[in-house]
Amino acid sequence: MRNPMFVFDEHTAELIFGYCRERLALDPVPLDYGGYATPLHDVLDGLISPEGNEPARVLELFADHLASAVISSDSPRFVSFIPAAPTKASLLFDMVVSSSSLHATSWLEAAGAVSAENQVLDVLADLAGLPKGSGGCFVSGGSAGNLSALMVGRDTAGLRGHGTERAKFACSEEAHSSVGKALRVLGLEPFVVAAVDHRLTGEALEAALGSDRVGAADVVGVVATAGTTNAGIVDDLAGVGAVAGRRKLWFHVDAAYGGGALFAPSVRPLFEGIELADSLVVDPHKWLFAPYDCAALIYRQPALAKAVHAQDAAYLDVIHEAMPGVVHDVDSGTEGATGDVPWNPTDYAFHLTRRARGLPLWFSLAVHGTNAYRDAVETVLTNAREVAALVSATPYLELLREPTLSIVLFRRRGWSRADYEAWSARVLAEQVAFMTPTTWEGDPAARLALLHPDTTVEVAREILDTMA
Ligand SMILES: Cc1ncc(COP(=O)(O)O)c(C=O)c1O
Repeated sequence: MRNPMFVFDEHTAELIFGYCRERLALDPVPLDYGGYATPLHDVLDGLISPEGNEPARVLELFADHLASAVISSDSPRFVSFIPAAPTKASLLFDMVVSSSSLHATSWLEAAGAVSAENQVLDVLADLAGLPKGSGGCFVSGGSAGNLSALMVGRDTAGLRGHGTERAKFACSEEAHSSVGKALRVLGLEPFVVAAVDHRLTGEALEAALGSDRVGAADVVGVVATAGTTNAGIVDDLAGVGAVAGRRKLWFHVDAAYGGGALFAPSVRPLFEGIELADSLVVDPHKWLFAPYDCAALIYRQPALAKAVHAQDAAYLDVIHEAMPGVVHDVDSGTEGATGDVPWNPTDYAFHLTRRARGLPLWFSLAVHGTNAYRDAVETVLTNAREVAALVSATPYLELLREPTLSIVLFRRRGWSRADYEAWSARVLAEQVAFMTPTTWEGDPAARLALLHPDTTVEVAREILDTMA
C-alpha cells in the first residue's frame, strides 16, 4: 500500500487552497500581534504525536492561534524595520514554486527556472548600469548576499595585488549589521571610516586609506550602502567607487533595502556610481514587492565568484561539465555567451541546493511590466515626502531629516525611550500600527518605514495623531 503522505488528498487541498484564497483576498491585511499574543505553549503542547492529527484540526489551530501571533509585514500599517509588500501575482506564483518543488541549483536540473531567474537578474543589472556579462543568483536575503559577495572580495584580493593575511573591508558605522557579521564569519575585520553626515564618501575613504592609521594598508575592499536601514541614506557611490577603482579594492554595494529605488527616476541620480560595483545586493523581498525570501546577488565578473563558490565533489562534477544533449543557450546566463558553459546559480554564493526563489518576482514582473514597478516605488517615495511634510507641520513632532528614500525619521518632543516603547505597544494593541522606536545620534527616535504603496499619508496621519 502506498504511504498516504504522498497521495493527493482533495479534502486537504481544498482546506489549504481555501485558506490561501481567503488570506490573499484580505484587504487590508490585518496587523495581528506577534510576540504580544497570548502564550502559545499550551496550544502546541502534544500536537506532534506518533499518530498525527486531522489536517482540519491542525489548520484550525494555526488559523486561530498561530497566524494572529505573526505581525503581518505586508500590512500597510507595518512601518517598523523594513516592511514587505508582495504583489498578489508574486504571492500566487510562490504557491506554484512550492507546489512544484521548484529548485534552481544547476542548469542541468533546472534550466527553465534558472533562465527565468537570470532574466530578472539581467533587468536589475541593467537598471544598475552593470556591464553585459554581469550575473549571479538569488539568495535568501541581504545577509546571505553580503556574506557571499564579501567572501569573493576576500578570496580574490590576491588577484588585485593585495596581501590577504590581515585583510580588512572598509565601511562606515552606518553599514548594515549583517556586514559586520559577514566579516566576522569570514575572519575579517572592518576598517571603519567615519561617515560624513551619515554617508560614506569617497573623500573620507581616501583620507582614511591614505593616512597612517593602523590597518589602512590591509584594506582589500569596501562596502557602501545604497539606502541605510535606519535612515534610508545613500552613500557616495561614485566617490567610493572611484577610490575603490584606483586602489584596486573590491567594491560591494549593499542595496538590500534601497535597490528597489533603481526603478524610480526621481531618485535614480542618487545611485550614480552603483555601476562601478564588483558586487551588488538588492532584496526583492523588500522594495521589489516579492515574497520572502529573495535577494538578488549580482557580480560584475561572475567568473570570479564561480571560482570562489563552486563546490567540488565527485557527484557534482556533472553539473559543471558540458553534458551531451544539454542545451546551453546564449542568453541564459552571461557566461553562457560561449554557448557551452553551464550556468549554475549554486556557483555564485555559499549555498548548494536552492529554491527557485527568484520566480515569484519573475512572474510578477512579466505580468505587470516594469512601469508598474516604477510607479509603485514612486508612490512610496511621494508618500514618504508627504509624510515628512506632515511631521514638519505637526507642533509636537520634530522631523530629523528630509527622507532620502522612504524612511521618515522624527521625534516626539519630550518623549523618553520608555514613552516610545509604551506607545508602540499601545498602537499595536489597538491595531493602528506596528512601529518600533530607533536611536538617532544617540537619542531615541521614531522611525516610519514606508514600503507598501498603501501606507498612505492618511494612514500615517492616523498613526501620528496617536502621538499627540
Ligand atoms: C541595507 C541592508 N543590508 C542588509 C540587510 C539584511 O537583509 P536580510 O534581512 O534580507 O538578510 C538589510 C535588512 O534590512 C538591510 O536593510
